[in-house]
Amino acid sequence: MLIEILIIVISAVVAAFLLTVFFGAPFLPSRRSELETAFTELYPLSPKDTLLDVGSGDGIVLRVASAHKPKRLIGYELNPFLVFISRIRCRKIPNTQILCRNFLYSQIPDGTTVIYIFGLDHLIPKLAKKIQKTVQKTGRPIHLISYAFYLTDRRPTKKLGAYYLYKFTPDRTLSERTSQNK
Ligand SMILES: C[S@@+](CC[C@H](N)C(=O)[O-])C[C@H]1O[C@@H](n2cnc3c(N)ncnc32)[C@H](O)[C@@H]1O
Repeated sequence: MLIEILIIVISAVVAAFLLTVFFGAPFLPSRRSELETAFTELYPLSPKDTLLDVGSGDGIVLRVASAHKPKRLIGYELNPFLVFISRIRCRKIPNTQILCRNFLYSQIPDGTTVIYIFGLDHLIPKLAKKIQKTVQKTGRPIHLISYAFYLTDRRPTKKLGAYYLYKFTPDRTLSERTSQNK
């Protein structure tokens, strides 16, 4: 009986990891030291910020970010096993939510000021579109921190090591074009 339960648990964990590989993004955590530099020198995180980690893995990004006491921390993660682990590891961090969600079918949460992404290169162009759409609607800027991958159609505001920082602001010409097409 115990062996059967163990086999079921191991199969579920393996299946969860294979699922994320199928989606093109296996789990690989960011390095703590690089994250510390990113949240101090690249984009100094402050209590005014709401940070979203797209594909939050084991929650390392949220844990390092929590030292800056941001207003809110949100992780979206596809792999239920990693959601479980990260919820345990982040349980003492206030105002933190880790959702078992596919980012492809999700909206950017209200009030998000900065988004972190690592390893999901196929998602980055879709993410950039979502950010621009959100910024057009709210009129408030959103920063994007991308590790290792860059946007081909946009210049980064800053570059530090393997990090690229982008600032998305409302584009008036885009709003005018949209209203002319109505
Ligand atoms: C390279 S890891 C990065 C983990 C974490 N952000 C970090 O920097 O340590 C990418 C994570 O994204 C998750 N993932 C892949 N596709 C996803 C999707 N469509 N929505 C949400 N999470 C996804 C994977 O399960 C994996 O844990």
